Amino acid sequence: MANSDNLNSVVERKLFTEAEIADTCKRLGSELTTAYAGKRPIVVGALKGAVFFLTDLFREMDVKADLDFIDVSSYNGGTESTGKIVVEHDMSKDVKDRDVLIVEDIVDTGLTLQFMKDLLLKRGAKSVKCAVLLDKKARRTVDIEPEFVGYECPNEFVIGYGMDFDGLYRNLPYVGVLKPSEYQN
Ligand code: XMP
Ligand code: MG
Repeated sequence: MANSDNLNSVVERKLFTEAEIADTCKRLGSELTTAYAGKRPIVVGALKGAVFFLTDLFREMDVKADLDFIDVSSYNGGTESTGKIVVEHDMSKDVKDRDVLIVEDIVDTGLTLQFMKDLLLKRGAKSVKCAVLLDKKARRTVDIEPEFVGYECPNEFVIGYGMDFDGLYRNLPYVGVLKPSEYQN
């Protein structure tokens, strides 16, 4: 009998396996190695979802780079964004005149990425680019495109490899589609 506490039990289907994600990190890492050759970017992980992707991707980047984190959030734990974005934990490094690479787990409406980009440019960053594992292009409401994309993501709620539903399932090692029965009554 299936264990109802098992993480796999809420997954409708696997989207990207651990092996596929590892290959994608290699591909993106090599693109980023070329893009930032001779520079010293600040790599900024968007907490908390991007942590898993960041650690795998960063180790595929053969560049001297600083590491920092920022936590901005617009989610209230459900599957829909509230639209209001706040900085929960700020970066510790000064971005003035620096090349900054934001690492995100998923870009959906684009509002969170736009907020972070605007914030860092306002603080004087020389350049702000974004590497994202999943791009839910179909849901975009603002005109913003991440420069480095792992996969285009179908318009479904996904969990795992850092991504959560109501704070859970980040430690699922692959990316899967959450069973709609988990959030529909
Ligand atoms: P926006 O709409 O601002 O959203 O581009 C980006 C943030 O929304 C979260 N998000 C998701 N999280 N599964 C998740 O676990 C999803 O399918 C999903 N879609 C959006 C995520 O935190 C991202 O940083
Ligand atoms: Mg996020």
